[in-house]
Amino acid sequence: MSQPGDDPYEHDERNRLSLPRAGLDDLLDEVRARMSDISATQDRIRTLLEAVISIGEGLHLDPLLLRITETAARLVNARYGAQGVIGPDGELARFIPVGLQPQEIAAIEHWPEGKGILGLLIKEPHALRLSDVRDHPESRGFPEGHPPMRSFLGVPIRIRDQVFGNLYMTDKRDGTRFTEDDELLLRALATAAGTAIENAQLFSQSQSRETWLDASGQITTQLLTGAAPEQVLRLVARRARVMAHADCAVIAMPGSDPDTLAVRVWDAPEDGDGRRWAALEGAVLSCGPDTLLGRVYRGGDALMAEVSEPGHQGADFLRDLGAGPVIVLPFGPPEGARGILFLARSRDGDAFQDSWLGMLSSFADQAAVALELAEARLDSERLTVLEDRDRIARDLHDTVIQRLYATAITLMGTVRRIDDTGTAARVRNAVTELDDTIRQIRSTIFALQSTGSNPSWLRSRVLDLVNSAGDILGFAPRLLTQGPIDNEVDETVGEHLAAVLRELLSNVARHAGATRVDVELSVGDDLRLRVVDDGCGIPDDAGRSGLRNVESRAHELGGQVVITTAQDEGTTVEWRVPCRVQPAPARRDG
Ligand SMILES: Nc1ncnc2c1ncn2[C@@H]1O[C@H](COP(=O)(O)OP(=O)(O)OP(=O)(O)O)[C@@H](O)[C@H]1O
Ligand SMILES: [Mg+2]
Repeated sequence: MSQPGDDPYEHDERNRLSLPRAGLDDLLDEVRARMSDISATQDRIRTLLEAVISIGEGLHLDPLLLRITETAARLVNARYGAQGVIGPDGELARFIPVGLQPQEIAAIEHWPEGKGILGLLIKEPHALRLSDVRDHPESRGFPEGHPPMRSFLGVPIRIRDQVFGNLYMTDKRDGTRFTEDDELLLRALATAAGTAIENAQLFSQSQSRETWLDASGQITTQLLTGAAPEQVLRLVARRARVMAHADCAVIAMPGSDPDTLAVRVWDAPEDGDGRRWAALEGAVLSCGPDTLLGRVYRGGDALMAEVSEPGHQGADFLRDLGAGPVIVLPFGPPEGARGILFLARSRDGDAFQDSWLGMLSSFADQAAVALELAEARLDSERLTVLEDRDRIARDLHDTVIQRLYATAITLMGTVRRIDDTGTAARVRNAVTELDDTIRQIRSTIFALQSTGSNPSWLRSRVLDLVNSAGDILGFAPRLLTQGPIDNEVDETVGEHLAAVLRELLSNVARHAGATRVDVELSVGDDLRLRVVDDGCGIPDDAGRSGLRNVESRAHELGGQVVITTAQDEGTTVEWRVPCRVQPAPARRDG
């Protein structure tokens, strides 16, 4: 059992009892206050940690910036918060506010432009804590419609040693000023925010790099699997525009004059806004040595510019279309660009990111190389076809025609020795047939030699018309051509000829009930087209519609039409006109 005096606490107990009552209360209060301070600090540290964790979630920049601003306002108990992102020109490029009601936002005349206190933080990126923002000498007041704000705490957000932007907190909720602790917490948050933003930027860069690579791959595949170069250029323009968030994309290549580039393809959104770029269709842009486009096309280095500002030679056209920021890139290797690719945003659009220049350049390079390869492939395919045609034409000429000739001559030699007149007549007929066949083969040889080189040439057009008439006639018309049709007949006469032939063949198909049609086209002193059918003949009382046009076309060119027809003995229409349009066409009536 312990005795009085043995208790080691007895002395303390006595002392304590002897302390004045008031002192004890003070002490207890202080302890309580410290305890609550400690617990408040712990709470805030926990809030800070939670804030840091929350901003670290998610890698997309826009939601991240908003999350940072909201978290910061909550952390320091501010009624209003905002984040200002500094642009390349040192001005506020973006402003992300929180805490304002939609009607308050609507009432504000314009967002802060980075002047006054906000500008001070941009110029001198250090934490700034004020009990009343209006008292500061740099304060410029608030824009019209802005709610009044008093206490202020601003800290910069850095990414490595670059200032990315600032966090601005105003109006502490309890009406007091922001404390040193608030400043410390906000600075800690800003540091974490800097890292999170950098991660998000890196992520978005790597994502867009992947998208660019994917687009390049798609374009190369399209080109090499035989898509038409024009179609692929269109795809290049579209992908570049969408990936760079531009309002329009243009690929221009050398025009007729060395100081111009002609727009080959352009792309803009298909909505109303996109239509204002429609003037780019077929536009010719100046690319003299000192012009914006010329510097890129000749110099080979990509550049970015703001064409709504003065000082860009040759950019008036773009300025008039409402372009603002542009990126201009050489299309193809810098030392021998084939043209240019440029992307534009509207005058009020954000500037393009520097980091895209590299990606866009290599995209344009790859697209141009792929285009070059595809064109080379097309050329070689065309050449092969032409070589094939030449070979077939030569074979037909040298082998088939010569043999037919030989046969015809042999038959002619034999016919003299045939006594039976019936047989002799049949052999003569066979020789005439052979003659016809030889002429037909000659036409085919001409056609083979002309089609591949220029499909719009008259001989091929006639051939096409005759071939396609076979579908509606149910049998193939025979075509005989003679003379230098493509060289002697001019374009206007050619157009008339095609229309007349189409009409005559359609008449045979619709009205004649024929089993055979011969189309003969010969070019000598003039052009003569004969369409002969073995059908029912034109009735006497038949009206004239298409045939009247056939006549008036002949008259217009100074020629004439002769129609020979008899019931059940077929119809022959002969259309004769000069090969070339006469300087003063002789008009005839009837
Ligand atoms: N090759 C033909 N064989 C028999 N009848 C013909 C032949 N060509 C024209 N006709 C007759 O002559 C008429 C007039 O021909 P035309 O080409 O002027 O007019 P359409 O063919 O009837 O009408 P459109 O040419 O306007 O289509 C025809 O309706 C038809 O009766
Ligand atoms: Mg007709």
